[in-house]
Amino acid sequence: MDKFVINGGSRLVGEVTISGAKNAAVAIIPAAILCDGICRIENVPQISDVTNCLRILYEMGASVKTIDAHTVEIDSHSIHSHIVPHEIAKRMRASYYLIGALLGKFNKASVAMPGGCDLGPRPIDQHLKGFEALGAKIALKDGMISVEADRLLGNQIYLDVVSVGATINIMIAAAKARGLTIIENAAKEPHIVDLANFLNSMGADIRGAGTDVIKIRGVESLRGTTYSIIPDQIEAGTFMVAAAATGGDVLINNVIPKHLESISNKLIEAGAEVIEYDEAVRVRANGRLQKCVVKTMPHPGFPTDMQPQIGTMLAVAEGTSVVSEGIWDNRFRYTEQLARMGADIQVNGKVAVIQGVSKLKGAPVRANDLRAGAAMLIAGCMAEGVTEIEDIHYIERGYENVVEKFRSLGADIKRITVPSSISKVV
Ligand code: EPU
Repeated sequence: MDKFVINGGSRLVGEVTISGAKNAAVAIIPAAILCDGICRIENVPQISDVTNCLRILYEMGASVKTIDAHTVEIDSHSIHSHIVPHEIAKRMRASYYLIGALLGKFNKASVAMPGGCDLGPRPIDQHLKGFEALGAKIALKDGMISVEADRLLGNQIYLDVVSVGATINIMIAAAKARGLTIIENAAKEPHIVDLANFLNSMGADIRGAGTDVIKIRGVESLRGTTYSIIPDQIEAGTFMVAAAATGGDVLINNVIPKHLESISNKLIEAGAEVIEYDEAVRVRANGRLQKCVVKTMPHPGFPTDMQPQIGTMLAVAEGTSVVSEGIWDNRFRYTEQLARMGADIQVNGKVAVIQGVSKLKGAPVRANDLRAGAAMLIAGCMAEGVTEIEDIHYIERGYENVVEKFRSLGADIKRITVPSSISKVV
C-alpha cells in the first residue's frame, strides 16, 4: 500500500505545466477504433486511467505504439471482436465509450458494465436511449450491455439530463451512421469539443460541439489523423486552488484560460488574484481568503470535479461558505476526511455548510475518490503538521507526476510504501 506523506505549511510558489486532459483522452482513445488508418495522438497524459484505456485497445487486438512519453499511435484495423469482457472493461468506468465505438465500427457491441469512482448512482440510460434512437436493439444480461443494429441511422435525440458521457458516446456512434443525428440538450464540456475536433480531423462532419445542439452528419469512413489533446481543465483548476489555498504564487502553464473561467472567478471572489495569459494563468494570494457560495453545474458552470478542492480551500476561509453539489449524490465524502483535520463542515444532502476555521492540522486521511484525493493533497499542503494520504491509486488515475509537480512548487511531499496491513485510517 502506497501513501503520500505531506509535511504541510509551505506556500506553493513557482511554475507547473499541465498535462493532457484525462476525460478527453479516455474518449478520444476508444474513438480511434472507428478509423481505418493510424491515429497518432499527442499530449496524452501518463495516468493510470489512460494506460488502462490503451491496454484495453491492445487486449482487443489493436496495435498501440508508444512514440514518446506523451504520444501514442493506434492502429485498430486488427480489432475483430465486438465483445469486451469484464476482466478488460472493469479497468475503467469510461470503458462504456467502447459501446459507442464498437457499435460505430461493427454495428454491434457487447461490453461489461462500467467500474470507476463511487460517486453515487451512475446510470447510463441516456447513452442507451441514444443508441436506441440510432436504431440499435439493446439487451442487458449477466453484467453485459449488448447493442446491435442492421445499420445505424441518424435521428434526433433529446437528452433528459445533460450528460457528458451520453453526449460523447452518441457522437462516437453517430459519426458513421447514415444521415443526420441531432443531439439536443447536449453537454458542453471542453472535452466534448475536443472529441468533436478529433473526429472531424479523421473526416467526420460534426458541428455545434460546445453548444447544446450538436449535429452529426454521418460519413462512410474515417481516415487516420494526428491530433493533440487539450490541456486538463481540472488538473489546472486543482493547481489554481492549491496556489490560492496556500497563499502561494503559481504560474500554471499549458492551459486554455477560457476553460478555467468559472474557477478563476470563484478564486477572485474569495480574494485571490488570477492573471490570464494566452496559454497560462498565474494565481497568487495573500492573507486569509473569504467565504464563497459555490454551486456545481454542467459546463460552463462550476465543475463538480473541482468541488472537493474548492470546498477544502474554503474550510479555512473567513466566514461561512455554502457549497451545493448539482451533479453527483456522493461527492461530499471528503468532508469526513477534512473533519479529521479539524474542519467544521455540516453536510445535508447535496449541500455543505462550511464554517471556516483558522487552520487545519495534519492527520491520516483517505482519498475516497479521484477528486477527493486531490482535495486531500491541497489539505495536506495547507495543514500544520504531517498528513498521510491512503488509497492514492485514485489520485494516480487522473494526475500525472503529482508528487513531482507539487514538490517542484515547494511542497514537502513524498510517496512511501508501507505493508498493506498497516492502515492509520479507520
Ligand atoms: N446521468 C443519468 N443518465 C445517464 C448519464 C448520466 O441520469 O445516462 C446523470 C448522472 O447520474 C449525473 C449526471 O447525469 O447525475 C451527469 O453525469 P455525466 O454523464 O455527465 O457524467 P459522466 O459522463 O459519467 C463525466 C466525467 C466525470 C465528471 C462528470 C460531470 C468522464 C470519464 N467522467 O462523467 O469525471 O464528474 O462527467 O462533469 O468524463 C472525474 O474526472 O473525476 C470524474 C468523475
